[in-house]
Amino acid sequence: MPRTDTKIFSPDEGMEEAVSLLKQGEVVAIPTETVYGLAANALNPSAVEKIFAVKGRPSDNPLIVHIAKTSDAFLLAKEIPKEFFTLAERFWPGPLTMILKKNPIVPDSTTGGLDTVAIRLPSHPVARQLIESCGFPLAAPSANLSGTPSPTTAQHVYEDLKGRLTLILDGGSCSVGVESTVLSLYGDVPAILRPGGISYEQIGELIPNVVLDDSVLHSLKEGERPLSPGTKYKHYAPRAEIILLDGSLSAFGEYIKEKAKPQDMILCFEGEEKAFLNPCITMGREHSAETQAKELFSALRKVDDSTSLRVYARCPEKSGMALAVYNRLIRAAGFKVITL
Ligand code: TXA
Ligand code: MG
Repeated sequence: MPRTDTKIFSPDEGMEEAVSLLKQGEVVAIPTETVYGLAANALNPSAVEKIFAVKGRPSDNPLIVHIAKTSDAFLLAKEIPKEFFTLAERFWPGPLTMILKKNPIVPDSTTGGLDTVAIRLPSHPVARQLIESCGFPLAAPSANLSGTPSPTTAQHVYEDLKGRLTLILDGGSCSVGVESTVLSLYGDVPAILRPGGISYEQIGELIPNVVLDDSVLHSLKEGERPLSPGTKYKHYAPRAEIILLDGSLSAFGEYIKEKAKPQDMILCFEGEEKAFLNPCITMGREHSAETQAKELFSALRKVDDSTSLRVYARCPEKSGMALAVYNRLIRAAGFKVITL
């Protein structure tokens, strides 16, 4: 793909240029409350194709369409169930993506050929201002190269995509830090395809029949077709081998003493570093899903920058927002979890 200079602008400096680029069918990296997105006009197939090219993303992996107000969903989707409005009222704007049956106006390139469309109303003021100023919805996957951790700062986007796009809007570090929860609302039962910033329990309070799709906690079996194409790709794959050790800090310490080589890395919670002689990277505080979510992807990038070839990681909880952190980590670990 042709190389170009990549600028990082504050929203004040770059808003006008960003809107103009998006209106011309170009891509711009933008901040959202979850992770940075690589945005383009969701209704323009050639603009959307540029997203896939810049990211190096397989074209059958559909994009999330970001809207400015709940009623924009009527343009994009049909046969909208009542659960959609209940959840939108409670969790939008925010880190929840809902999948509905799509209207013909949404191009096949946006949905990877599926007859459904994923919709989200982000809360980040810069993202919302952009969508409103453009007057069309923005398709935006996470603004990383396919296969690297999602970016939570403008610098992360720059590391991955410099030379491949002209403008990154810098809105600071993302407040949530993991991607949105993806909820399917078109099948028989509402199903969480990817846990994220809104928890299973929070959704369950309003929609008691919601289920967690199998792919959230387990790897796909040979030949199995995922509901969400994204789950079949190996996400967040660091260079090093990651092994999750599920148990208490003391059991973790015992295991490390026995098995780890001095150069092996430890991925642990804040304050635990002093228990180890090995190099350590932290990912938030124990029992604090919010801090873990916020720091996880930066921590995985630090793992990639290190020379360690093996990483032993502490295991997050499997409920609330920590489930999103656990889900990202077991994928990074290629589902290698040892129960202590
Ligand atoms: O927080 C987020 O969701 C961020 C920000 C930028 O909004 N976006 C994001 O997009 O994480 P992406 O493309 O990295 O992940 C979207 C996930 C993928 O796993 C994709 O397969 C799934 O959502 N998805 C999108 N449309 C779908 C559809 N119609 N049916 C099933 N899964 C879908
Ligand atoms: Mg992504």
